[in-house]
Amino acid sequence: MKGAVAGASRCRSAQVARRIVHNGRMDRVLEPEIMDGEAEAAAYARADFSDSNQAYVADVMKSFADQLANVVDLGCGPGDIAIRLSRAATTTRITGVDGSPAMLAIARAALQSAGLRSRVSFLEGRLPGVALVDASFDLVLSKDMLHHLPDPQVLWSEVRRLGRPGAAVCVVDLSRPATSAAAHEIVERVSGSEHPLLKTDFYNSLCAAFTAEEVRDQLSAAGLSFTVSQLTERHLCVKGYLPG
Ligand SMILES: C[S@@+](CC[C@H](N)C(=O)[O-])C[C@H]1O[C@@H](n2cnc3c(N)ncnc32)[C@H](O)[C@@H]1O
Repeated sequence: MKGAVAGASRCRSAQVARRIVHNGRMDRVLEPEIMDGEAEAAAYARADFSDSNQAYVADVMKSFADQLANVVDLGCGPGDIAIRLSRAATTTRITGVDGSPAMLAIARAALQSAGLRSRVSFLEGRLPGVALVDASFDLVLSKDMLHHLPDPQVLWSEVRRLGRPGAAVCVVDLSRPATSAAAHEIVERVSGSEHPLLKTDFYNSLCAAFTAEEVRDQLSAAGLSFTVSQLTERHLCVKGYLPG
């Protein structure tokens, strides 16, 4: 998570103080799962993720042009991705799901302004066990939620449950740098001029993220044969299709 969050940052201060390293690689340090504070949600929604969100939507449109009829976005946050996708794919129906009422209030306000309520809806729900029908989606999306989950299998089991046989999947998330110093270096280079709280939160998100190798292991344990690629030094992408 990259939004500025005073409360969450305070909660994590003890964790920030110690980063455990094994075999030269920093271990994962969890950050809070649901972004349920109003200030936290507002700060996240104010941050400008337009470039990465637009790139994600463009890639989804290009990669899965035939799978856009009924789409779910897990951990939709303030709804920017669902709204962008709806503008670009005008016959698509999209359901955004998030466990944070504060995030969903922002998402619904944005949806109202966008005038897209007939094609996009937002549902409050926490994975696992979101109140959506099994096998009801052609495409399952999730951006920047995986690193919030203490147990990553929560995402992969929900992806498998919600996608219809043969559904497409596209998950993008941060990837954890090898060391704390590398995480600090990325934060300074990418968001050096941002508010200090935003930078702290970005750092904590990098430390909570998985490596591409760890995600491959998760998928193997889940019996899912998706492709994991390192998009940039700090982003990884998981793509594929559920068994038909
Ligand atoms: C960093 S935000 C990403 C929001 C959005 N996908 C984006 O890229 O802008 C992560 C979101 O995942 C939500 N989240 C985390 N764990 C969740 C869970 N188990 N169930 C539902 N939502 C969850 C948080 O509340 C938060 O809104």
